[in-house]
Amino acid sequence: MTDLRVVGSDLRPPADGKRHLLSVADLTRSDVERVLATARSFARSQERDNKKLPTLRGRLVLNVFYESSTRTSSSFELAAKRLSADTMTLKASGSSVDKGESLKDTALTLAAYEPDVIVIRHPEVGAAQFVSRLTEARVVNAGDGKHQHPTQALLDLHTMREALGRLEGLQVAIVGDVLHSRVARSLVQALRLVGADALLVGPPALVPSGLAPVSHDIGSITDADVVYVLRMQRERMLEGANFVPSLREYTARWGITPERVGDGQRVMHPGPMNRGVEIDARVADSPAALVVDQVRAGLIVRMAVLYDLLTTGPVAVETTVEVA
Ligand code: CP
Repeated sequence: MTDLRVVGSDLRPPADGKRHLLSVADLTRSDVERVLATARSFARSQERDNKKLPTLRGRLVLNVFYESSTRTSSSFELAAKRLSADTMTLKASGSSVDKGESLKDTALTLAAYEPDVIVIRHPEVGAAQFVSRLTEARVVNAGDGKHQHPTQALLDLHTMREALGRLEGLQVAIVGDVLHSRVARSLVQALRLVGADALLVGPPALVPSGLAPVSHDIGSITDADVVYVLRMQRERMLEGANFVPSLREYTARWGITPERVGDGQRVMHPGPMNRGVEIDARVADSPAALVVDQVRAGLIVRMAVLYDLLTTGPVAVETTVEVA
């Protein structure tokens, strides 16, 4: 367990206009619309032969990943490169974290390079906020335990708007292991901000109350415009805890099969997918699936987030970390 307490001498007051992206709870609708509009303009730049923009030349973006990642780490690295920033990715595994270096000392060590942005993923809730108070860099939360994954929510909104033409009034059924999911927590807040509705669907042991309306009937996904499928987060389940009788039974009751997807419904998944568990391969590979669109959106939305943090208006953020 990492010690995330910030004590007096550690604490730096936020510099004037210093902004972070720690939680969707810190964003306004106009923040979301600004980032999505910027992402759309970057999408056009990515259709050109020369995809590189000079916008962040001379800036340094550090990616620090204490948990596995394919999509988030690769897209942040590419996003920084496409904006001409210098970039460096540190995976905890293989670094001095293996020798017992604390998060605080790792953050202070990397801060010596004077990064403009630190993107961090960590298994502990509050880790990104902790780092934001130790360094002068802007900090982006790339996932802290089961708390938040704000850039995932932003790229999901972009994907939904591109595929369905609107966000306002959309019905989104989020199906599966909501309990351990930072993606679900961020997405529920983001959908609410833009006037869309979330319904949380799954077995009682995996769907907490108090985040959004809940259903324990898989048939309730019928009315949704989007079926958003979550992975079973086995790495966050306490050892020995049985949230479902078996994966086979989970798949039978809650797995998204072609029979459960209606005409016109679109299916999303943040990845990585466990084909044959929460999502049938025939759905994952079908025209209804937006999974590859989500990955593409990840690049331009993360370009927009880096651009926004380093160039746009004042949203000083000091979030309160609470997880339902
Ligand atoms: N959706 C997501 O965060 O994927 P990665 O774990 O591969 O980054």
